[in-house]
Amino acid sequence: MEGIAIMTSGGDAAGMNPAVKCVVDYATQKGLKPYLVRDGLRGLIDGLITEASRQDVSGILHRGGTVLRSSRSKRFFEYEYRKQAYDNLVNLGITKLIVIGGDGSFAALNRFYADFGVPFAGIPATIDNDIPGTDYCLGVDTALNMIRDSIDSIRDTASSFNRAFVIETMGRDCGYLAMVSALSSGAEICIVPENEYDLEKIGERLREDIKNGRDHIIAVVAEGTNMAEYLTRWIKVNLNMDARLTVLGHVQRGGSPTVYDRIMAYRFAVAAVDSLLAGHPNKIMVFKEGVLDSVDIEVVNSSKVKLADDIVMMSSHLSR
Ligand code: F6P
Repeated sequence: MEGIAIMTSGGDAAGMNPAVKCVVDYATQKGLKPYLVRDGLRGLIDGLITEASRQDVSGILHRGGTVLRSSRSKRFFEYEYRKQAYDNLVNLGITKLIVIGGDGSFAALNRFYADFGVPFAGIPATIDNDIPGTDYCLGVDTALNMIRDSIDSIRDTASSFNRAFVIETMGRDCGYLAMVSALSSGAEICIVPENEYDLEKIGERLREDIKNGRDHIIAVVAEGTNMAEYLTRWIKVNLNMDARLTVLGHVQRGGSPTVYDRIMAYRFAVAAVDSLLAGHPNKIMVFKEGVLDSVDIEVVNSSKVKLADDIVMMSSHLSR
């Protein structure tokens, strides 16, 4: 029986666990022997690889994070350690890999493929939603729901006083979480790397609103802009309103995967196993304009993430 190993790598994201479970179940149905790699690339090097049993993947579907754990390994950049990882796979009869993670992890596995010819399939997973070639990455919907709950709670307290709240969302250099959250929670301000902001115009708009009765403000700021603290001070001074900053932080990364993330995990997992069985050596599973597909790793490596135009456009008036 051919061995197929599954690993999670890079930042954890809700949806990784259902994807692991589905790969194990589906690969078994297809006559493959599934293995689990613990601790991501570090585990590949250190041989933390065991055959997957039913118990390993039962009761994990609803859990956030990754039960396989993850890592960001610098050693994997060195040939000597990649060779060690390859030897581990050969010893166990593993000929295929599935990696659930981000573009950095895919690039690492592509390097590994170039060295040793071990085919892999990638499943996009990161709350940042910043992997080129796909409209959706596992973990995004769960993170958005977490942020929505937080902003709804913050609005309760904001509206009980005359107060502004600046809420910083994660996303690295990508403003997707901030834009969708601002729209879905009815924020008054949204500052993201994708849209130019104009504080003077924001000031004029909100001073007019305040004159007409607005008594609280919600501003959503993407961490990639580094603007959260500045905006909080700016609101105090320029809008003459008490302002508080809430940095949501890692709460956005945890939590039980939503139904959408669970179903997308299943879709990506089945597609990844099928892609390897069809003989494709290094495809990344994608969800593009509502259709599940796969693209060559080169597409992911060589292009820039392109967010849905309507989301960028609809949130742009909140930055001026
Ligand atoms: O890539 C996912 C992410 O949560 C980003 O949104 C954030 O900038 C970063 O990881 C945080 O990294 P760490 O968990 O290493 O602090």
